[in-house]
Amino acid sequence: MPPATDDTVAALDELRREVESCTRCPLHATRTRAVFGEGDYGAELMFVGEAPGYHEDQQGRPFVGAAGKLLEELLASIGLTRQQVFIANVLKSRPPNNRDPRPEEIDACQPYLWRQIELIRPKVICTLGNHATKLLSRDQTGITRVHGKPRAMEISGVPLYLFPIFHPAAALYTPAMLATLKEDMARLPELLAYARGERPGAGAEEPGAGGEQPGAEPGRAGAGGERPAWRPAAAAPAAGQTPAADTLFAGAGAARPDDGSAWGPDPSQPSEPDTTDAGSEQLGLF
Ligand code: URA
Repeated sequence: MPPATDDTVAALDELRREVESCTRCPLHATRTRAVFGEGDYGAELMFVGEAPGYHEDQQGRPFVGAAGKLLEELLASIGLTRQQVFIANVLKSRPPNNRDPRPEEIDACQPYLWRQIELIRPKVICTLGNHATKLLSRDQTGITRVHGKPRAMEISGVPLYLFPIFHPAAALYTPAMLATLKEDMARLPELLAYARGERPGAGAEEPGAGGEQPGAEPGRAGAGGERPAWRPAAAAPAAGQTPAADTLFAGAGAARPDDGSAWGPDPSQPSEPDTTDAGSEQLGLF
């Protein structure tokens, strides 16, 4: 990945200062420190969690508690460090007692996230848990149904893949969820390669002429447990283009964007209230 340009660094540093002195919602009165997010300003992979917890609020850094440790282990399992990705949250200030973010807090804070995405221009955004997934997908379907299913989208004018996964904080206490989270993470390198326009088999075939990059879809094990199958199908996204809307993982039932639409959240629109998982007890994460 090329490093972020000086202009991008300057714009993100300016945004960071804005976030750190933000008073747009009442959470500013109870927070210790705002948590802007951290990592590579030129990252191709971005993670979006829910909100700072106790340790994050104390240190002004995202994912530094137990969930952060797990996230770092998951990153290491695919050969990445937290310095190579960008880690952010839906809310930049901690809700008291780690309660769920309120719709009006999400509305107040979301412009910061859209601007972060616009400046960093990631190729893949991994949403962690329900809140981030519902906000970025503009879809109220819960994480249990959509995890591990990449979705081609345009957010803040950036063509990218959204890849929802379980929140590490939820997975810490639920072994089955942890196993699923590990499986979903293991598929990230494949999705990243696809999002870059790379083809499986590292140079086995050259991209087609005329700038087109005929891609192959990353497959996934089907019901029968067969190995993931590479099959030529949709074109991989060329630089600057909206990625192909086709499902990436055959049989995974990945959602498709509306035809031709820019599916990204419109910062001018308030987010919809969370109704899908009203009964969820654990952090509203699944
Ligand atoms: N959980 C989150 O969603 N974000 C953090 O930064 C830490 C824990």
